[in-house]
Amino acid sequence: MKEVKIGFIGAGGNASGHMNQLAGIEGARIVGICDIDSGRAQSAAERHNAYPYTAHQDLLERDDLDAVYLSLPVFVHGQPELDVIARGLPFLVEKPVAINIDIAREIEAAVTKAGLITCVGYQLRYLGSTRITQQILQERTINMIVGKYWCSTGHGDPNAWLRQMNKSGGQLVEQATHTIDMMRYMGGEVETVYAMQANRFLKETDCPDANSVTLQFASGAIGSLTATWAYAGDWSNANVLDLLYEGELLNWNPSRVSVREDGEWVDKTEPGPTIDEVFVNAVRSGDASPILSPYSDAVKTLEISIAANLSAQENRPVEIASL
Ligand SMILES: NC(=O)c1ccc[n+]([C@@H]2O[C@H](COP(=O)([O-])OP(=O)(O)OC[C@H]3O[C@@H](n4cnc5c(N)ncnc54)[C@H](O)[C@@H]3O)[C@@H](O)[C@H]2O)c1
Repeated sequence: MKEVKIGFIGAGGNASGHMNQLAGIEGARIVGICDIDSGRAQSAAERHNAYPYTAHQDLLERDDLDAVYLSLPVFVHGQPELDVIARGLPFLVEKPVAINIDIAREIEAAVTKAGLITCVGYQLRYLGSTRITQQILQERTINMIVGKYWCSTGHGDPNAWLRQMNKSGGQLVEQATHTIDMMRYMGGEVETVYAMQANRFLKETDCPDANSVTLQFASGAIGSLTATWAYAGDWSNANVLDLLYEGELLNWNPSRVSVREDGEWVDKTEPGPTIDEVFVNAVRSGDASPILSPYSDAVKTLEISIAANLSAQENRPVEIASL
């Protein structure tokens, strides 16, 4: 089996998860790890028997790379991707793809021109619960999708990049992007959003701590998303969807999907591959078709979050096509 040699740009919490997954995939080998925090680069490199770097340009000078992972704070996206593309390497980049639409579209244009395999970290698309939901909804008419992302990650250091609007884009861009992506994945493209936001509790940050978004889908379906990171409870209300289709209700969450059969609620799911397995196999085979979250698709999900923030700031509906 051909070995796939991988470099990492960014070695924080999320990257560690991918590195651990890759360690269990036959034929995948991490050869270089870059982080501007030299301690992080060094300790991750030691764990994975790789070489540490503190500048991504130095990592990209290696001549043995087959693919790159980018797992960076949102505001850092741009030059690292453009350098990876110039080097002609397939890449997996974490969501959201950029802090603004201009950067995302510049990278998208470069990716398209280079014809590279790309994958964005919308791993919920690969779950068994998602695949079953897609099967159930095939050929069905969706009336309404209600999404929720309630969690506690707004609490904590207000100076962390996550809790600064100009560095993360706030919860809708950085986090509830997963729920928005699932609403798109199941309900199709979104044409217009109208959002309201409040910041009444976590006032030490400039990010809203509560978001309410109404969505108009191109199909004619409507949707509603509420997102808060001020909620002190557990994660059971993060990334959950209720879908109304032809008078039936389907509850989806990452670990299962529940549907009514003969008047009874029935839980269903099945195993799915990890996003890392899918990406490594695509790089090895050159066949990108199993990748469910390519770069250009992820730009559309970013557009919805950005439009929702704009809508709330300007108190008006925003058409996605106007961005
Ligand atoms: N798919 C998911 O479910 C999921 C989960 C968590 C995080 N994420 C995403 O992963 C990304 C990273 O999140 P995180 O929680 O790991 O953040 P983090 O802050 O823990 O890690 C980011 C790392 O990037 C490094 N870095 C910053 N600028 C750099 C540069 N120019 N070159 C190299 N390294 C640089 C930082 O030093 C840090 O170690 C974010 O986009 C986040 O939204 C995705």
